[in-house]
This record gives sequence, C-alpha cells and structure tokens, in this order.
Amino acid sequence: MVLERQVLLGDVGAGKSSLVLRFVKGQFVEFQESTIGAAFFSQTVAVNDATVKFEIWDTAGQERYHSLAPMYYRGAAAAIIVYDITNQASFDRAKKWVHELQAQGNPNMVMALTGNKLDLSEARKDAQTYAQENGLFFLETSAKDATNVNDLFYEIAKKLPNL
Ligand code: GTP
Ligand code: MG
Repeated sequence: MVLERQVLLGDVGAGKSSLVLRFVKGQFVEFQESTIGAAFFSQTVAVNDATVKFEIWDTAGQERYHSLAPMYYRGAAAAIIVYDITNQASFDRAKKWVHELQAQGNPNMVMALTGNKLDLSEARKDAQTYAQENGLFFLETSAKDATNVNDLFYEIAKKLPNL
C-alpha cells in the first residue's frame, strides 16, 4: 500500500469539491456548497500492481481561509490547482497558487494545473449551431491578437449585394 497525500487549491467555485466528489463517489451536485475550512477524503485505487491510497485535502477557495492553506499543502506529495475555464479571475488565482507553491511548497511536490468545466466550452458549438439555424455568419475573433478581425469585416463586405 502506497500513501499519496494530495491537496486541491483554487478559486471559489472552480470545482475542487466537485472534482473530488466525482473521483471518490462518482457523483456530481449541481448546487455544491462552498467548502468551509477544508474537507478530507480518501480513496484507494489499484495502479499497476500497487495499491495507492489517496488522502485528499479539499481546501476552501474563499479568501478568508487562505492562511490555512500551508497546513494542507506542506505535507502533500501532489497539488492539484484548479481553475474554471469560463472564468478569467479563477485562472489568475490559479497562477497565484502556483507562485505560492513554488516559493513555499515542498520542492519535490508534483503540481497539476487543471482547467475545469470543459463541458461549458460546448457553448461555442451552441453558438455555431444557433448561427447556422438563423442564417447568420459566425466567426470567433480576438481583438487582442487580431485573429479573424480583418476576415470578419471582409467576409461581411463580400456578402453585401452590391459588391
Ligand atoms: P469552494 O469550496 O468555494 O472553494 O469551491 P469549489 O472549488 O469546491 O467549487 P465546487 O465544487 O463547489 O463547484 C462550484 C460550482 O461549480 C457548483 O455549482 C458545481 O456544480 C459547479 N461545477 C463544478 N465542476 C463543474 C464542471 O465540471 N462543469 C460544470 N458545468 N459545473 C461544475
Ligand atoms: Mg469546495
């Protein structure tokens, strides 16, 4: 039996508890309550010929619990840093956790950055379908790096009847 102590860190609502509940109990709760302090879970799985017992600290993302975090990550062999792919602020928060762990964590700790709520990226496909159904021209753009910005205006121009 191999013991593996893990800690989940990340912004409020990123989905830390949901990931652990999915892993440990195979469940998902639409209205998961915000964690207070931290919650402990364990799960034993077979990896190759070994039995691995995960001891998982699911920390609270709320800022007022921040000072408790070192208690949970200090003894951890691995940290899972979670952000919500639909929420830029949660990604910024994740980068702060990485920075804190690099500065104060165990240097041998395995760090995993996890972009959660991938299911919500389907919203893009929905937009495409919606556009198709409604006869709209559809394009994704970035005003920041200029992706598709010229195309947007040129393609619209090409569709004008007098061109
Ligand atoms: P704190 O305990 O406050 O730090 O938050 P947390 O990181 O534990 O987030 P939690 O697991 O409580 O999830 C927050 C909300 O996001 C809940 O309403 C979940 O149902 C939802 N959620 C979590 N994971 C996913 C996911 O993969 N997809 C979608 N669509 N919703 C998710
Ligand atoms: Mg939680």
